[in-house]
Amino acid sequence: MTIFNLGSINADHFYRLPHLPTPGETLAATRYDRGPGGKGANQSVAAARAGADVRHIGAIGADGRWMRDELRADGVDCTHVSEVGTASGHAIIYVDAEGENTIILFPGANRVVPRVSLEAALSDAAPGDYLMMQNETSLQREAVELARKKGVFVAYSAAPFEAEAVRAVIEGLDLLLLNAVEAAQLCEALGVALEALPVKAVCVTHGAKGAVWHDLVGKTEHRQPAFPVEPVDTTGAGDTFAGYLVAALSEGLAPPAALQLAAAASAVKVTRAGTSAAVPKRAEVEAFLKARG
Ligand code: RIB
Ligand code: NA
Repeated sequence: MTIFNLGSINADHFYRLPHLPTPGETLAATRYDRGPGGKGANQSVAAARAGADVRHIGAIGADGRWMRDELRADGVDCTHVSEVGTASGHAIIYVDAEGENTIILFPGANRVVPRVSLEAALSDAAPGDYLMMQNETSLQREAVELARKKGVFVAYSAAPFEAEAVRAVIEGLDLLLLNAVEAAQLCEALGVALEALPVKAVCVTHGAKGAVWHDLVGKTEHRQPAFPVEPVDTTGAGDTFAGYLVAALSEGLAPPAALQLAAAASAVKVTRAGTSAAVPKRAEVEAFLKARG
């Protein structure tokens, strides 16, 4: 099965800091790195490193060709990554001594993904394929409509979280991914309990406490504990989880096995600095699982 990912592509600028800056403070970084990122691209890389066939749909400026090259190097099809006359998206990422982060996002080209790119990509989609999305691009609503007509499984990561953005696409989603705080905010905004959300399944991540898969059709739940690790950088851990989860589902793994793989992949990512470049390969994730018994 093919995974189509309508996703952001950002140049990530990482600053290692002793602590996150406070208003009025001038703070010297102890390290600076630049690498390819964006929640969308990170998820494409994760799904590709998990072994899936991934086609990315998105937009970059002329300044972002190096990021498309990086995606291609991971085997991600970039036929429908368009170059537009706007600067590429970028993110300023602060990482503190505990591995926690703060991100400033400049969306740039991600906000002007050409509709023709989306339509051309999804014209190849067939029933049983997958569409992934996050909340960093334009065209989310259009993508859901096109995918639904094609019988494609739609997975939406509500990140960065905005209740209104979720409301616009939620009806009939096959899988909604969010963290526990976002789940509570969404239920409050929509005025319903989690079990009554209009989707087939919800996967809620609870940080160090793991993840829960809520099957709202079968009315069952599955819990996956997190694998304890010493955190170096949590940036992109959620993207790694999402990419591995959808890749595993697209292979035909049942939710419990898919969740375990996703939890292991994100645990390995947390032990490494960076976003796309730090996403582990499938063999590394399998080795980690084996070592953890
Ligand atoms: O989730 C991490 C990502 O968020 C970074 O790669 C950054 O680009 C922002 O999109
Ligand atoms: Na993340």
